[in-house]
This record gives sequence, structure tokens and C-alpha cells, in this order.
Amino acid sequence: MDQSNEAWWRRGIFYQVYPRSFQDSNADGVGDIRGIIERLPYLESLGIDAVWLSPIFPSPMADFGYDISDYTGIDPLFGTMEDFDALIEAAHGRGLKLILDLVPNHTSDRHPWFAESRASRDNPKRDWYIWRDGKPDGGPPNNWLSEFGGNAWQHDAATDQYYYHAFLKEQPDLNWRNPAVREAIHDAMRFWLARGVDGFRVDVIWHLIKDAEFRDNPQNPHYVEGRPPHEKILTQYSTDQPEVHDVIAGMRSVIDEFADRVLIGEIYLPLQRLVAYYGNDLGGAHLPFNFALLSTLWSARSIEKIIADYEAALPAGAWPNWVLGNHDRPRVASRVGREQARVAAMLLLTLRGTPTLYYGDEIGMHQVPIAPEEGRDPFEKNVPGIGVGRDGCRTPMQWDASERAGFSTARPWLPLASDFAHENVVNLDADTKSILSLYRALVALRRKLPQLVTGTYEPVAAQGDLLLYRRKSEGQAVTIALNLGAEPVSVTSSSIAFGSKILLSTFLDRESEPIDGALDVRGNEGVIVG
Ligand code: NOJ
Repeated sequence: MDQSNEAWWRRGIFYQVYPRSFQDSNADGVGDIRGIIERLPYLESLGIDAVWLSPIFPSPMADFGYDISDYTGIDPLFGTMEDFDALIEAAHGRGLKLILDLVPNHTSDRHPWFAESRASRDNPKRDWYIWRDGKPDGGPPNNWLSEFGGNAWQHDAATDQYYYHAFLKEQPDLNWRNPAVREAIHDAMRFWLARGVDGFRVDVIWHLIKDAEFRDNPQNPHYVEGRPPHEKILTQYSTDQPEVHDVIAGMRSVIDEFADRVLIGEIYLPLQRLVAYYGNDLGGAHLPFNFALLSTLWSARSIEKIIADYEAALPAGAWPNWVLGNHDRPRVASRVGREQARVAAMLLLTLRGTPTLYYGDEIGMHQVPIAPEEGRDPFEKNVPGIGVGRDGCRTPMQWDASERAGFSTARPWLPLASDFAHENVVNLDADTKSILSLYRALVALRRKLPQLVTGTYEPVAAQGDLLLYRRKSEGQAVTIALNLGAEPVSVTSSSIAFGSKILLSTFLDRESEPIDGALDVRGNEGVIVG
């Protein structure tokens, strides 16, 4: 695999599509593959390079596709294999790469493998999953908790053992210590890679291996009341085990059987531990997702520290990446507010590293309030009322002002945002100062200036709400000044190269303005100077 700066996954911009919510083509209120094909011109026009699809495989949809019952099929809800082949061809025809979601940690409990595994203790597939005897008193084998609430062990009466599920009980964990499991998933990967898929985003990759002795996890002394109950214990023995890196190297070698493919890992870990997922000699994930911006306090100093820590922790030759939103976390426009969402966009697209955009963030979609009777997310259902629900960041894409926002002609599976009549692609494209126009301008500038892609990252000392840094390559530099507060700030002229002008403001109203002395940055404004 090409590890030079030229590799497409280093230069490119990724965009996550949540297929259920992107575009419905057959009037059932749920997005599908043909719908994505219809919207490829939009994706191409954004200037992105790669599209990652959340799961489209056959699934009982207990966790909306993250519970797979067949790794090498397409769920009829999303279409057919012919539709999928048409999508790859159409995407490639437009110069877009296509990334699939690989969910190897667990299957659906309806997967034939699990049906066999649970059939008897001596079934050949018994050891494909994680079966343990209960405690002498009949209780679960240890204290591990499910991330979606409750115990992580489900008792199965037929064989009087427990199986482990890190998520729903409908999502039994596969046993990755078993070489047959590795081979089966490797084959599924090959199936899609041979069809032309450009890589995988691997679901909960840091979960794949569990402690060989299944020791109890320690209590979390810092648990905060009101947070999800699974945070009461730490995941010392249930995740991030040293042997996981061997498993990932195995996946990587499958990726490397094919030219120019990428392996992305979903990993929620502190930066110091995250970077281990690049693997020995960078033989792990090409891009272990860096989610630090999803949970940071939105302040200049916190973000400056995150960038510095991350840059310092990266192994030699490893390529960074940044994420502002995904289908599991509250929308960035709601986390940081409407004004700061524009600053966040400039941050994401000017940091060193591959950016991943979440569908709809480019039109400023916010977290949609979901009435309990309209809720679909199993996490919210299991752990109600404390704000863990993920439906609000998964609502239908807002394309236009028509009755169903151009998403569908039927009632959508989740409600539309109430402001869609104004906040939609058609409307925001007509507005030269909209957030969508800003995203387009940022992507265009990133494409034009190599220093924004391959340039070094150099922090520039700043105080208060000002986040200041430089991107430099081959003697060319741009300076990025982001005001994370509502009050104006001034950047001293010594921080900015002589003769500079403004290349882009997040308000889209200062292009080409020469800088004469200090640079004034308005409240909630970001500027790129060069
Ligand atoms: C992470 C996925 O992003 C999330 O949506 C899912 O519920 C869990 N993994 C379980 O697969």
C-alpha cells in the first residue's frame, strides 16, 4: 500500500452516508442504494473523494444494520447486489471511492453462524462466539456491562451457558481468538474488495479481542451520575487488549492483497492509546479514527492541546485524521452552536490529516428532538431519558423544501427537522453566504493549496478564544485564525507573513482583503490568510 503523501486516502476528503437517511428511491420512507446513486452528482459537486456507507447488509435491524445476518449480501430494504454493483460503477465513474462498513466484532443473533453456535455445546461453530459458564450461583460469568445498558452476558437456556454481547443481546460477539472466525471475515472482506470496494471502516475495532481469562473489570472511580450505566466500570479487560493488534494486522494483510485500498478503524480511546492502532511499522489501520473533536470542550486552548498531543503522539510516517460528527454522536451544529459550526468546518478542513464529514453537517443540520413514540434507537430505548439517543443525528437529509424535503415521497422512518423548508441543499446553494457555500469554498481551497493537504502543522502562540496555526509546504504557508468566542479578537501582524491577504473568511465576505498591520477577526469568525 502506498504510504506516500500521494495515497488517495491521505489527500482525500471522506464523507459518511447513513444510507437509511440519505435518499429514498422507492417510497418506503427509508433511504436506499438507488437513492445514493441519484445523489452522486451532489457528492461529486461537494469535491469529496470517498464515500463511506454505514451497513447495507442483510440485517434484522435491531441496531439498524450493525447486526448483520449475512456479510456478503445486500438487505432488500437497501436494494439488490445489482444496485450495489451499479453504485460502485457510478461512484468510480465520478472519481469517488466507496468504503463499506465492516462489523466483525459481532453478528446478528439471527446469523446462521450463531444459530449453529447456540444449537449445542459441541456444535463445530460453538467456539465462533464467546460462551462461558455462569458463576456457581448461576449468575453471569463476570461483571462486564453492555454498552447499550444492562449486563453483557445473556443466558441461553438450551445449553445453560451465557454468551457475551458488548452491545445488544441481539448482537453476540464473535470469538476472534478462533482462526476460523478470522478466515470467515477475511473472506467476506475479499468478497467486497474483489467487487471493487475501496476499503472498510471497521466497527469497534478495539473491541475485537477480550481478556483470555475474562477477569472482572474494575469500577470506574470517576463515574458521573447521569452518564450511561456501562460507564460505571472501566473496560480494562473487555477492550483494547494487546492481542488485538495481531488481528488488525491480519485484516490489513487482506486489504493489501488488493491495490490501493484503505483500512479505517473505529476507536474511542485516549490519543496515546489510539495511535497504537497504526500498528507495528504502520501495519495496522491506515486511519484509526481520531474522535477527539467529538468530545472536547469547545475552547481554543483545549483544541490547541488536542492537536499538539495528537501530532506529538503520531508514530513516524503515520497519517493523521479528524472527525466532527458521525451517526452515534450529537450533531456538531448542536454541540458547538450554529455560529461555531462554521468555525468547526474551517478547523476540520484546514487541520493536517484526512477529514471525514458526516452527511448533513455541510448544511448545518442540527440534532432533531425526537418524541419518545417516534424514537427508534435501541440505546435510547434501553437507557431512556438521559440523552444517549442517536436518532436525532440520523434524521433524513434535507434536499429541498418539498413536503418530505426531497428525501422521500413517503413518511420518513425518522422525523425531518422542523426547519428543513429553509435549511436544505437547494436553498443553501442559492445563498452565497450559507454554510454549504462555506463548505464548498473550504473544499475548493483545500484542493487548490497543497499546503492545506500535505503541509506541516505549526501552532502559533495565541491566547483567549483565538486558535492560530500555520500550514506550510515548500516555502508556501497559510495561517489559520479561528475565533472560538463571540467577541472580536486581533491577531498581531508579527504572527502573519508580510503582504498577506485573506483567502477565506467563514462569513464569506472578506476574500482578497489585504492585511494591513494586525488582522481583526470578528466574533465566531475563522479566516485563512496567505
Ligand atoms: C459502533 C457503531 O457506530 C454504532 O452505531 C453501533 O451501534 C455499535 N458500533 C455496535 O455495532
